[in-house]
Amino acid sequence: MATYIVLLGPPGVGKGTQARILSESKKLAHISSGDLFRENLKNQTELGKLAKSYMDKGELVPDDVTIAMIRDRLSRPDCEAGAILDGFPRTPAQADALEVMLKEFRGSVDAVPYITAAETILVERTGGRWTCRAQGHIYHEKFNPPKQAGLCDVDGSEIYQRDDDKVETVTKRIRVYLEQTMPLVDYYRKAGKLIEIDGTQSVESVTKVLLGALKR
Ligand code: AP5
Ligand code: MG
Repeated sequence: MATYIVLLGPPGVGKGTQARILSESKKLAHISSGDLFRENLKNQTELGKLAKSYMDKGELVPDDVTIAMIRDRLSRPDCEAGAILDGFPRTPAQADALEVMLKEFRGSVDAVPYITAAETILVERTGGRWTCRAQGHIYHEKFNPPKQAGLCDVDGSEIYQRDDDKVETVTKRIRVYLEQTMPLVDYYRKAGKLIEIDGTQSVESVTKVLLGALKR
């Protein structure tokens, strides 16, 4: 049976950072809906252009196209053992659709680590974030700086600041998160799958708590 872990939490809390570490440690594919949209945008696909019109405003991309994109991604061979889902689902309709599609892939959501931090921390983390152009590796100018300014440690590509990391857009994304994604906290708590994780500590401490909680 495949293993599926959903990382839930507000913008900038550290989902992508932890998902990359978990994916290596658990040997599961890392699926980030935001990274998939950004990849489409880089390749100038129709989906990328559509997604950009929502992402720039800090709004969610419509459920139907998002669900179709994730379904396609989950059907690829590297997801056979399962996946770490980062940024999906983000609405109750997406969560329902996920349950249906995972049945098809012989699994279900096993655990939902819910990472939290206060809004001031989210603004500070997104404000200082730099992202690698080639593969989306994540840095922070203060908390996780690259060894060489402006370049990714892993693949040497340029690092850039996301358009949606401007403080106004981050504030909007947090509001959208509270309105549209927060209901999933109750959804997964009722299902007995939610694991609350304090996201205010260092990357290493959060990873330690996360790995410990997932063992139980
Ligand atoms: P997406 O890319 O998913 O953005 P998000 O959920 O807003 O989350 P972020 O990627 O901003 O933050 P993160 O939690 O991954 O934090 P990170 O690890 O980078 O989505 C972007 C847009 O795409 C959405 O607004 C929407 O338009 C669209 N979209 C995506 N999914 C969708 C869906 N399912 N449905 C509809 N639309 C969708 O860390 C942040 C920073 O903090 C980094 O600089 C990092 O180095 C630093 N950091 C991380 N952890 C720590 C720590 N413990 N201590 C100190 N610094 C830390
Ligand atoms: Mg992310």
